[in-house]
Amino acid sequence: MSMEVVLEVENLTKTYKRGRTEIVKALDEINLKLYEAEMILLYGPSGSGKSTMLNLLSGLDTPSSGSIKFLGKEISKFSEKDLTNLRRKYVGFVFQSWELIPNITALENVEIPLYPSNLSSAEIRTKSSSLLKRLDLLDREYHYPGELSGGEQQRVALARALVKEPKVIFADEPTGNLDQATGDMIMRMLKTICRQGTSIIIATHNEELKEYADRVIRLQNGKLMS
Ligand SMILES: Nc1ncnc2c1ncn2[C@@H]1O[C@H](COP(=O)(O)OP(=O)(O)O)[C@@H](O)[C@H]1O
Ligand SMILES: [Mg+2]
Repeated sequence: MSMEVVLEVENLTKTYKRGRTEIVKALDEINLKLYEAEMILLYGPSGSGKSTMLNLLSGLDTPSSGSIKFLGKEISKFSEKDLTNLRRKYVGFVFQSWELIPNITALENVEIPLYPSNLSSAEIRTKSSSLLKRLDLLDREYHYPGELSGGEQQRVALARALVKEPKVIFADEPTGNLDQATGDMIMRMLKTICRQGTSIIIATHNEELKEYADRVIRLQNGKLMS
């Protein structure tokens, strides 16, 4: 079975200026391939360049040099507009804070990424609702975030990241604010989603997440160690 390469990174470098003269190499000549339905754990201490890497691979930021091919397209030279389209179509984000919009329902929070769309609002509702059902939240559809437990809020946020059926999910310290049991639940769900075909990169300094990954890559001072 030949697996599709979803992301291919060559000699990726990102430098930042710190103050007037100091230059920080946040990423230093990174080479990496991400395959379809693969879960990579990007592991490294704080400041090693994990978030910078996710920002570049997802087109939220642009590299200083090097190449990023997303589904075969070189995105490092994409315009802001093309990057926005790419993210809309192919990318799901999961962040440490899992923030939902407080004054709309769980269901509406999940629907938001689908607008604007060619789908009718009824289709969008059905799609979002069935996803909440899959995450065992059907009876919470019309609840506001403030009426949900922490674990339920995280599952709604996960549904929001999944509703577009992204090609890749980028998760930055997804278990950072969670207790062990909720963190394990979220990781198991991500793993299931991955097995159904979505590629996932998880940035973390939490060693315990290693057991879930297909591949662990270690980042230190902007360099890949393995
Ligand atoms: N916008 C920025 N401006 C200047 N330096 C930055 C910026 N973003 C990150 N850095 C620096 O790049 C390095 C990597 O940061 P980051 O990617 O956030 O690491 P991690 O996510 O692993 O904690 C750090 O030294 C950090 O201080
Ligand atoms: Mg970070």
